[in-house]
Amino acid sequence: MAGWLSIPATLGVQDTQVPTPRPSTTTPEIEDAVTFARTRLGFHPDPIQEQMLRANPHRVILNCCRQWGKSTVGAAVAIHRAWTRAGSTILVASPSERQSGEFVLRCRKMLFNMGLDPSGDGSNAISIAFENGSRIVGVPGKEGRIRGFSVNLMFIDEAAFVDDSAYNVLRPMLAATKGDLWLLSMPNGKRGFFYEAFAFGKNWTKFLAPGNECPRIDPEFLVDERDNMGKTKFAREYLCEFNESEDATFSQLLIDRAMDATIKPLDL
Ligand SMILES: Nc1ncnc2c1ncn2[C@@H]1O[C@H](COP(=O)(O)OP(=O)(O)OP(=O)(O)O)[C@@H](O)[C@H]1O
Ligand SMILES: [Mg+2]
Repeated sequence: MAGWLSIPATLGVQDTQVPTPRPSTTTPEIEDAVTFARTRLGFHPDPIQEQMLRANPHRVILNCCRQWGKSTVGAAVAIHRAWTRAGSTILVASPSERQSGEFVLRCRKMLFNMGLDPSGDGSNAISIAFENGSRIVGVPGKEGRIRGFSVNLMFIDEAAFVDDSAYNVLRPMLAATKGDLWLLSMPNGKRGFFYEAFAFGKNWTKFLAPGNECPRIDPEFLVDERDNMGKTKFAREYLCEFNESEDATFSQLLIDRAMDATIKPLDL
């Protein structure tokens, strides 16, 4: 499960002036994200990843198993947007700064395949600045540290492990820009915004990608994992099921039923 890191004060995240995105000079080959990924980034998406790259990008949820390739496909989408829409601000949030840094590092590695080694944006420790004014910025999904961005495309990686309070701070950053939002995660029980959006959300493009449908995961490995971790955990980690943890004393349903919204909290 994702951990939380404390962040040194010097690694604060800041916004700089956000220009309105505008189309770069592109060709049909560059406009198509799948062709761009293959020919420019050296990333060869499998058929489901192709669908993701070509998805209506406004609200997208990837509920995928461990190691399925969520962050990789997200990185390809991020670079494609930065490249084809000049002046875009693309924000990556996740439970910790380290995890957002991993996502941005993946973007950087893909850019190496294009023969590029871009610098940061000069304001944020985890960032990539493009010559066309676009930038990709990584932040921790932690409420107090992420205000002040106007975002054209946002990724919340490991979204099921990001607190609702951070989500409530992140979403308004898309308001003025009419920006796009991608949630990427494996499930983590029937709680939180990732579960709510996947189970009940309208106007989302939803992808479900269990391990037995991933061409890179060996069926024998899955059998071994199921035997080692037990059915419940296996179903969560590899079959994308929103089940309760085996060691949970109370089910989420029981907890929800026990809650009484009419009782005011004690004023301590
Ligand atoms: N289409 C692809 N072709 C080849 N390798 C791929 C492809 N997609 C993903 N991978 C590889 O699969 C591995 C897992 O990818 P990635 O880290 O993006 O998965 P993830 O779902 O984000 O994993 P985690 O659950 O650990 O966060 C990486 O080594 C990545 O390079
Ligand atoms: Mg990942």
